[in-house]
Amino acid sequence: MALLRFFLLAAFPFLFMACSGDKEEPHETGPNPPKPYELAIPATLPKNFVIPPDNPMTVEGVELGRHLFYETKLSRDNSLSCGSCHQQQLAFTDAKGLSTGINNAQTKRGSMSLANMLWFSQFNWDGSTNTLEDQAVGPLEDPLEMHQPLHESVNKLQQTQLYPPMFEKAFGSSTITRENILKALAQFQRTLISGNSRYDGYLQNKEVFTSDEVEGMVLFMTHPDPSTGTRGGNCGDCHGGVLLTTRTFHNNGLDAQPTDNGLGDVTGRASDKGKFKSPSLRNIALTAPYMHDGRFKTLEEVLDHYNEHIRFDTPNLDPLIIEATNLPNGTSLGLTIEEKRKIIAFLHTLTDTTFIKDKRFSNPFK
Ligand code: HEC
Ligand code: HEC
Repeated sequence: MALLRFFLLAAFPFLFMACSGDKEEPHETGPNPPKPYELAIPATLPKNFVIPPDNPMTVEGVELGRHLFYETKLSRDNSLSCGSCHQQQLAFTDAKGLSTGINNAQTKRGSMSLANMLWFSQFNWDGSTNTLEDQAVGPLEDPLEMHQPLHESVNKLQQTQLYPPMFEKAFGSSTITRENILKALAQFQRTLISGNSRYDGYLQNKEVFTSDEVEGMVLFMTHPDPSTGTRGGNCGDCHGGVLLTTRTFHNNGLDAQPTDNGLGDVTGRASDKGKFKSPSLRNIALTAPYMHDGRFKTLEEVLDHYNEHIRFDTPNLDPLIIEATNLPNGTSLGLTIEEKRKIIAFLHTLTDTTFIKDKRFSNPFK
């Protein structure tokens, strides 16, 4: 067990070696330059991450971003903010199958948790954007979401008492720009770090797991091999490491003919059809319903899917799923009811109650 623990902790930090946590000097802006924002990275999470050099984090930028995240003026009829579909108490999801935008328009996918965006470089279920700065343009302008062109948002915010001074403090100019709206939103989202679950405590020897939780964790992380009697749930192949995701794209066998092509529509490759981001499972007990279209209401339904209902006739079904079985010559995963229950017990240890109560992430208008 000690070895497994070492592996879980050690595997991740070295994957990302880019410009990372290096201190960026905030731009010089008149007499009161903004203060650098000190990110506190929990002990279990990777120390390397990428912050775009042209958007260093500052205390004032993060605070502005927090206001913008909860600002309904960024929607056409002043009814919706980012926070409407990304609610803190639900680890920044919305409990809906498909999210609903302005005038109750149904969007084509379900909301995603915003925990630990700092470590990602592909966003949305289909990986269609590569920075948080770019990602936000989608929900802001999409007619099914907030439906307001950024130039209109600039006009609306410029006319308020609140925002021009906040932009001045954060970016050195009270003239609001599209770029600075996007930068501030991204700065705030980079502070949404979740690394204080019972699992994090367990990894640091500060928390004791029940035997079910330990067995569930081992099953979760293990690729099965019936020839040696090694039992496993195979989940860690795509949701492994301390971020609880390998940050890769896969077809996990939901439909024979996917109605949403996911990554396939982004790359245009037939071999990517039906592939979606394998999301982090941190806080997963809080973010039902599950999958890109919210088709599963419970974690029990999710486990039944992987164990019994994989569509083997779907194009591009992941090889890691095709060959994973606990049964000699088996054609399904073949976990027992008890094993499924233990994996779910482990998934519950990934809930971070400090993350969902942290005042710094909450709505400043309430
Ligand atoms: C109408 C509901 C809705 C609103 C409003 C909304 N989002 Fe989202 N968000 C979603 C949905 C749905 C997805 C998945 C989109 C997809 O895959 O096409 C998503 C995905 C994301 C992601 C990607 C997360 C990941 O793990 O890849 C980020 C980041 C994000 N939203 C940030 C924002 C920000 C910032 C705002 C405000 C400017 C915002 N959202 C407003 C519903 C919403
Ligand atoms: C081959 C890669 C792969 C394996 C193996 C895998 N998953 Fe997934 N998982 C995915 C992908 C991809 C998605 C998103 C699929 C979608 O929405 O279309 C997903 C989605 C999920 C979700 C829903 C997440 C959300 O935010 O809605 C849960 C929960 C989940 N998986 C749990 C598991 C468990 C438990 C196992 C092991 C029994 C497992 N996965 C094995 C790739 C995988």
